[in-house]
Amino acid sequence: MATYPSLRHAIASLLLCLLAFGLSVTGRPATFLEDFRTTWADSHIKQLDGGSAIQLILDRTSGCGFASKRQYLFGRVSIKIKLVPGDSAGTVTAFYMNSNTDTIRDELDFEFLGNRTGQPYTVQTNIYARGKGDREQRINLWFDPSADYHTYTILWNHYHIVFYVDDVPIRVHKHNEAKNVPFPKFQPMGIYSTLWEADDWATRGGLEKIDWSKAPFYAYYKDFDIEGCPVPGPAVCASNPRNWWEGTAYQELNPLEARKYKWVRINHMIYNYCTDKSRYPVTPTECLAGV
Ligand SMILES: *[C@@H]1O[C@H](CO)[C@@H](O)[C@H](O)[C@H]1NC(C)=O
Repeated sequence: MATYPSLRHAIASLLLCLLAFGLSVTGRPATFLEDFRTTWADSHIKQLDGGSAIQLILDRTSGCGFASKRQYLFGRVSIKIKLVPGDSAGTVTAFYMNSNTDTIRDELDFEFLGNRTGQPYTVQTNIYARGKGDREQRINLWFDPSADYHTYTILWNHYHIVFYVDDVPIRVHKHNEAKNVPFPKFQPMGIYSTLWEADDWATRGGLEKIDWSKAPFYAYYKDFDIEGCPVPGPAVCASNPRNWWEGTAYQELNPLEARKYKWVRINHMIYNYCTDKSRYPVTPTECLAGV
């Protein structure tokens, strides 16, 4: 008897998800049903606004998560997110790519660390290349990311990896193997998203605890855009220099982007592993090579 409502619920949420995503994956429209799967707590991922958005829910019982069914080798992934509003201290919303290989993990992380009402959200980025991470950088956002949707993008091509907040590059990791900088280029990565509680570290280093009286916490997602070489797929795709994300316009920041990048780093960066001398008495190679 107990299985009927939950099965019905599962089918309903799949249909809702299908309605909710206007996705595109290299040449064909993407759908949640076809391109994504729930990885954690189906019951905590819901449709909203007649299907134009997805709501992720965090409450005392659970957070939730979803992932792409396929992996991609190079490309550009972007997503519109509206983060947990008000008192979001202790919550973390993540959007990342991961090779899912334990020993030689490649991973590109966006993590949105909540804060007390009126205090700025922090965006932490990290890059794992060939099994090594510990490359955290943090910026405080210059707008309230819970008031409206903003676009968060990861561009990954043979020249660099760039993290964007709307049209502002907040991080660049150059492909600089000549200077011994590890760069992910062999392993495809899946696309993941989660909303969970991490009040042991997230806000002011764990000093600010989650206020469960404010639960449930909601984050909203819409307009996934995945452009890349799906794996499995044609093997020649990833090395094709004619893929648009490998084009001249994407090989380095243009002058306007470079100015925005500089502006963010001067005015909004609050942590950079490159300059953390107590952690790295010897500056990591990629920092010298110009991150
Ligand atoms: C939260 O706000 C405090 C105070 O403005 C700030 O120092 C901190 O960087 C913000 N972010 C997090 C995640 O603690």
